[in-house]
Amino acid sequence: MLQKYLISFFLIVAIVFAHRGGPPFLKGASREAVKEFFKIQNNKTAKISEIESQTSAWAEKYNVTATYKAAEAKRVEFETGARKNVTTVIANLPTVKTQLEAIFDNKDQTFAQQRQAVDALRTKYPKEVVTLFHLSGPPPPPPRGGRGGRRGGRRH
Ligand SMILES: *[C@@H]1O[C@H](CO)[C@@H](O)[C@H](O)[C@H]1NC(C)=O
Ligand SMILES: *[C@@H]1O[C@H](CO)[C@@H](O)[C@H](O)[C@H]1NC(C)=O
Ligand SMILES: *[C@@H]1O[C@H](CO)[C@@H](O)[C@H](O)[C@H]1NC(C)=O
Repeated sequence: MLQKYLISFFLIVAIVFAHRGGPPFLKGASREAVKEFFKIQNNKTAKISEIESQTSAWAEKYNVTATYKAAEAKRVEFETGARKNVTTVIANLPTVKTQLEAIFDNKDQTFAQQRQAVDALRTKYPKEVVTLFHLSGPPPPPPRGGRGGRRGGRRH
């Protein structure tokens, strides 16, 4: 789950970059600088901390430290916001769970009314309700290519 979350997070960042034609500090950078930048990012054996320090050194070398630092600050801000959102959803889960169960336990209503009540709760707490439905079901399949994952699995 965490892995899936991380992957989707990086995917979002990648999409945002691609949409804007790359990170802002690559704008107007020389071909050589761009090539070197992606070589650093695509290093499969480097640790994340190494990629970060190499990128920071790269920015100094090509005199884009200010825009690079601004982009980094934005990324950190985004991450902080995402974590805050997760904290909020987790904090809300117990009460939303209680409310959802109360709706399903209430037999003094029609199925249409039950559905309306669930929809109303879902409108107020979209992530919480969807999360609770997820949690109530079977676990998702293991990540593809991961340890114990089905290589070339057919389930996707
Ligand atoms: C990848 O990163 C490692 C660790 O920082 C480094 O030793 C190696 O030279 C890098 N490889 C390439 C192709 O840049
Ligand atoms: C680096 O950029 C700054 C501001 O964009 C500029 O004033 C400075 O001359 C540049 N330095 C080099 C070595 O290119
Ligand atoms: C956090 O949640 C708010 C409110 O739903 C949303 O506007 C914002 O985009 C979320 N932040 C991130 C980083 O997804």
